[in-house]
Amino acid sequence: MTIDIAALFDTHESERYSLHTRRLNEQMVRVLRTIGYDVSFRRGRGQYLYDREDNRYLDLLSGFGVFAVGRNHPAIRAALKSVLDADLPNLVQMDVSTLAGILAERLLALVPYLDKVFFANSGAESVEAAIKFARAATGRPGIVYCSHAFHGLTYGALSLNGDETFRNGFEPLLPDCVRIPFNDLTALEQALASRRIAAFIVEPIQGKGVILPNEEYLKGAEHLCRRYETLFVTDEIQSGMGRTGKFLAGEHWGIEPDMVLLAKALSGGHVPVGAVLMRKWVFNKVFSRMDRAVVHGSTFSKNDLAMAAGIATLDVMKAERVIENAARTGERVLRGLSALSENYELLKDVRGKGLMIGVEFGSPSSLKLKASWNVLETASKGLFCQLITIPLFKQHKILTQVAGHASHTIKLIPPLTINDEDCDWIVRAFDDVIADSHKAGAVWSLGKTLVEHAMRPSA
Ligand SMILES: Cc1ncc(COP(=O)(O)O)c(C=O)c1O
Repeated sequence: MTIDIAALFDTHESERYSLHTRRLNEQMVRVLRTIGYDVSFRRGRGQYLYDREDNRYLDLLSGFGVFAVGRNHPAIRAALKSVLDADLPNLVQMDVSTLAGILAERLLALVPYLDKVFFANSGAESVEAAIKFARAATGRPGIVYCSHAFHGLTYGALSLNGDETFRNGFEPLLPDCVRIPFNDLTALEQALASRRIAAFIVEPIQGKGVILPNEEYLKGAEHLCRRYETLFVTDEIQSGMGRTGKFLAGEHWGIEPDMVLLAKALSGGHVPVGAVLMRKWVFNKVFSRMDRAVVHGSTFSKNDLAMAAGIATLDVMKAERVIENAARTGERVLRGLSALSENYELLKDVRGKGLMIGVEFGSPSSLKLKASWNVLETASKGLFCQLITIPLFKQHKILTQVAGHASHTIKLIPPLTINDEDCDWIVRAFDDVIADSHKAGAVWSLGKTLVEHAMRPSA
């Protein structure tokens, strides 16, 4: 007997919200209904999603960055099918994986100053591994991380989270984790001077808020880490794999970290995977003797489907010049959106690299808008962005997200395969929606509705 998953999806698709209300996260269903995102997506291809009525949406969220080469890419799908059809000796455990060897070689060819790879099953799991490797390699307990950082939500990764909303209620977290402001080399040096710090873990471009490093920051951080014998670790889980127009975002600033973390896009959007690329001496401190051959690891890591997804993703990126496309289309979107800021007092900044772009809003100067802005901000900080993202979705069929709690920045992280037409779609839609937000009326009354809903407890 074979199970027809597509038919199963079709027969139960209309029950998805009631199933989740009953058996999974009811609050997520409330959110979707409140903001009108309950459109029942039925299929995805490339940079587009299609709802029940077959309306086409441009996906600027890309599953939080996993669909770098687009949804359901035929080459990735074919690679995964070929694994399933090949009767490979997957997860023997008392053997080593051929496909993991191939993927490791291909990743390291792109990051030639590093020598070894440790595979994991997710971004957070890669961060957990980095913490363990750093402590074991240096014999030090401390980890330095930045305000606004996001490295995942498992306990080690959460201990490096720079946002109280994620941390509250889950303490106590890992000890010896030291928070410093991003872009502050003095604070970094002060933290490292204790000589108790195993690693400084940093996103080259912070995902929460799309915060870019100052020109000298990452290189300066690298020098300080060397001086105080602390490992310099970059979390490229979101910014890596071509997102910023280079394979690693760190390449824009010429850094050579001791460890680089990847996940998200490496999966091809299909099979969870994470990778920690690192120097040989760090790796060898953990796997130092035969009796320590399995001292860190995870049952499913290096599974054939994940490794094949990684290999196929790198292949597609090269064959379709996806990274070059991210650089070019990113420039086009940045230029188009930046030009809008002259026309709109609420639009404060447009920034980014490649296709990791932040559009920041802020307090208006005119009295007319100031009153509405203040009412909204007092009720719920950052709510204004929903007045942009919701009409983008409802009127312009663009899916996007606010870049963090209480944030005034909307983040664009589309598939890296978008074309010129998509870029123009983005700029036109933002122009229209921002123009509306500068008029009294529908947009601001939407704000009032949102405030009322947000405050209402579940039944
Ligand atoms: C920079 C960064 N690090 C780590 C993670 C955690 O990855 P995962 O959700 O796969 O655990 C994320 C996820 O958004 C991320 O953006």
